Amino acid sequence: MQNFEKFLTDNLPTSKSIHPHYENALQNMLIAGGKRFRPALLLGVVNAYNPLLLEGARHAAFAIELLHTYSLIHDDLPAMDDSPLRRGNPTLHVTFDEVTAILVGDALNTYSFEVLSNAPFSNETRVKLIRELASNGGLNGMVLGQAIDCHFENKPLKVEDIKILHTNKTAKLIAASLKMGAIIVGKEDLADSLYEFGIKLGLLFQIQDDILDVTQSSEEAGKLTNNDEDKNSFVTILGLDESMKQANELADELSNVMLSFEENLQSELSSLLTKYINRHK
Ligand code: IPE
Ligand code: IPE
Ligand code: MG
Ligand code: MG
Ligand code: MG
Repeated sequence: MQNFEKFLTDNLPTSKSIHPHYENALQNMLIAGGKRFRPALLLGVVNAYNPLLLEGARHAAFAIELLHTYSLIHDDLPAMDDSPLRRGNPTLHVTFDEVTAILVGDALNTYSFEVLSNAPFSNETRVKLIRELASNGGLNGMVLGQAIDCHFENKPLKVEDIKILHTNKTAKLIAASLKMGAIIVGKEDLADSLYEFGIKLGLLFQIQDDILDVTQSSEEAGKLTNNDEDKNSFVTILGLDESMKQANELADELSNVMLSFEENLQSELSSLLTKYINRHK
């Protein structure tokens, strides 16, 4: 995917110190892999409109993946979802200890903004990208979603509130990935419609994640499954059949919206969406 893995390997966070495993822990979950869905969305938009900007765009894609990886490391902590497995590997608090997992999350979070601040764009574009990632990944985005998710464990929410939870927890960062691509190529007119599309795509992504929590084994998913019983997951609240139905409806809606995009964007995004849009089936 547009040389993203090489870029990531070449830019892994490093830190030489007396600490015996800090650097290893910083890199562990990034190297472990994952779908790289958010970087692929950003790079897809850039490739559609101006492939010459891909080099710079990799910095932004990497920044999103850093912030996302931090969110997963913290999500797995004993105080949150208490999970021993992530991306097919033991979680950091299991391999090392809880302090290491907390601090590595903190470090990847701040490193993501360091990477963006050094990306080869104009100052104006850099600030726009930093603002987008911070506002969607931070206090009124992913972090808020995680706070609601954890606070309302074993307290069932209304369907409208579940949508708010998952929009913040997951959809905003996915929407920001597409919008940051539009910002990089200077298509500000497209930024808002891509953001709106991304919110729906993000909700679909989380419904699917909730479905896979009950339909996949931990081995298949590479992370602990059957772990959402106490959560306001779509499946816990709506049931599996209704979640499937809503996922199918959203997938159809997204396929239709895609047809309104310019052809170059459609062809970039369609292979990615075909791969993920039906993954709950
Ligand atoms: C998992 O995200 C957490 C959610 C927001 C559903 P991903 O499913 O993208 O995880 P990785 O990056 O592939 O590991
Ligand atoms: C986590 O959602 C979303 C994040 C912001 C990290 P989940 O708790 O459902 O993600 P998984 O299933 O552990 O990957
Ligand atoms: Mg969680
Ligand atoms: Mg979790
Ligand atoms: Mg999940």
